[in-house]
Amino acid sequence: MLHSIHALLRSASAVGDVFVNGWVRTRRDSKDFSFLEVNDGSCLANVQVLVDAGTEGYDLVKQIHTGAAVSINGDLVESPGKGQRWELRAKRLQLVGDAPEDYPLQKKRHTDEFLRTIAHLRPRTNKYGAMFRIRARLANEIHRFFHDRGFYWIHTPIITGADCEGAGEMFHVTTLDLMNVPKTDGQVDFAQDFFGKEANLTVSGQLSVETCCLSLGKVYTFGPTFRSENSNTSRHMAEFWMIEPELAFADLRDNMALGEEITRHLVRFVMEECAEDLALFAKYVDTTLMQTLQNIAEHDFVRLPYTEAIDLLAKSGRQFEFAPAWGKDLQSEHERFLTEEHFKQPAIVYDYPKDIKAFYMRQNDDGRTVAAMDVLVPSIGEIIGGSQREERYEPLARRISELGFDPADYWWYLETRKYGSVPHAGFGLGFERLLMLVTGVPNIRDVIPFPRTPKHLEF
Ligand code: 4AD
Ligand code: MG
Repeated sequence: MLHSIHALLRSASAVGDVFVNGWVRTRRDSKDFSFLEVNDGSCLANVQVLVDAGTEGYDLVKQIHTGAAVSINGDLVESPGKGQRWELRAKRLQLVGDAPEDYPLQKKRHTDEFLRTIAHLRPRTNKYGAMFRIRARLANEIHRFFHDRGFYWIHTPIITGADCEGAGEMFHVTTLDLMNVPKTDGQVDFAQDFFGKEANLTVSGQLSVETCCLSLGKVYTFGPTFRSENSNTSRHMAEFWMIEPELAFADLRDNMALGEEITRHLVRFVMEECAEDLALFAKYVDTTLMQTLQNIAEHDFVRLPYTEAIDLLAKSGRQFEFAPAWGKDLQSEHERFLTEEHFKQPAIVYDYPKDIKAFYMRQNDDGRTVAAMDVLVPSIGEIIGGSQREERYEPLARRISELGFDPADYWWYLETRKYGSVPHAGFGLGFERLLMLVTGVPNIRDVIPFPRTPKHLEF
């Protein structure tokens, strides 16, 4: 029977006749035997395999290099050596896939920059193996979190005819012949395109998920989103995953509570359930990681209105590259000052000026702010962006026109405000930013298997 190394290493007693598949991390030879360190991806740890003259296939062992794929039958026994409780005494060794000596991942540690150039091989390193296990576990836990609280997972479209954020940073989807684009009056004639109209990759599932919120009550979408913004930073990608819950009969306060609850829940989950993989990041990537996570797990987030945040920044005596000013967006240096230096914990800033936020946010009575919220965390800055939605037909229609959008494009969205509209709220949690937070990895390109950034699309 096939065993996972994860299960074997946790075994309470010796086990006879086990069967393991995996990849060789290292080989050490003595005169009459060799040790292979084998990893099968089920956990960070390797199993030590003793191959000796009694092993069928022993004659092969010197041909087995780092990176080779092997299958081993043997017995799990207590290891007489130091450093591991169990080892595998091989009875039969098979070389499944050879790895010649030019295998790029030999023992020494490689830089993240180099590993990005071999994204097809980097999952085989300890660090990226740990990262992608945590990523998968977290994604699963996110679904569980919502399921346990009565939320329904809605599959919102990837190809869309709407621009959710109104920012226009979208990738076109077309089957038009780019060498010979049909035009009418100098404009592209999208009527001849696949959908008969302009189509894009979604920047957010929000507008679509709102329609289901106004029926199923508590919903969320969790999928890939795409932005063609040309920001080459360590926190932006052209393709990223977003978790977007939407709550009916709810206001900004309920939204903030949910944003805080899910963030703290997921931090605690990783600390408890991914401890072995997390320890790698705490040791090699960010030595303050466990302290940061503990702090998030144990303390309530600070909440403060945008206006107060600007005051606080202005009075901080700090020389920022961008001077904080009411009406301007918070820069990441401001966000980091608030969470890392001033509060030393996550903070939720809310009630932003309406002119720097999206059209769908609920307008406050002061006439100049909207019920927006951003959750800011140390090292990263914004991890969640959300709002209470404008549920009133007139103010929403007015805002759409004011911003120069065509209300006809939003007819279906407006109609949800015409029939049975209710106060509702939601947010988007950036999945990769969450992974940066929980692992301490400083570059977003290193928390997703295949990063997409401007001028980078190798695989
Ligand atoms: O603040 P954003 O733009 O909000 C929305 O898209 C809303 N429609 C969400 C909603 O209310 N349902 O994006 C939400 C989060 C950000 O806080 C950030 O964590 C992440 O998505 N994000 C990105 N992550 C990686 N690369 C990018 N280019 C990102 N842009 C946003
Ligand atoms: Mg935002």
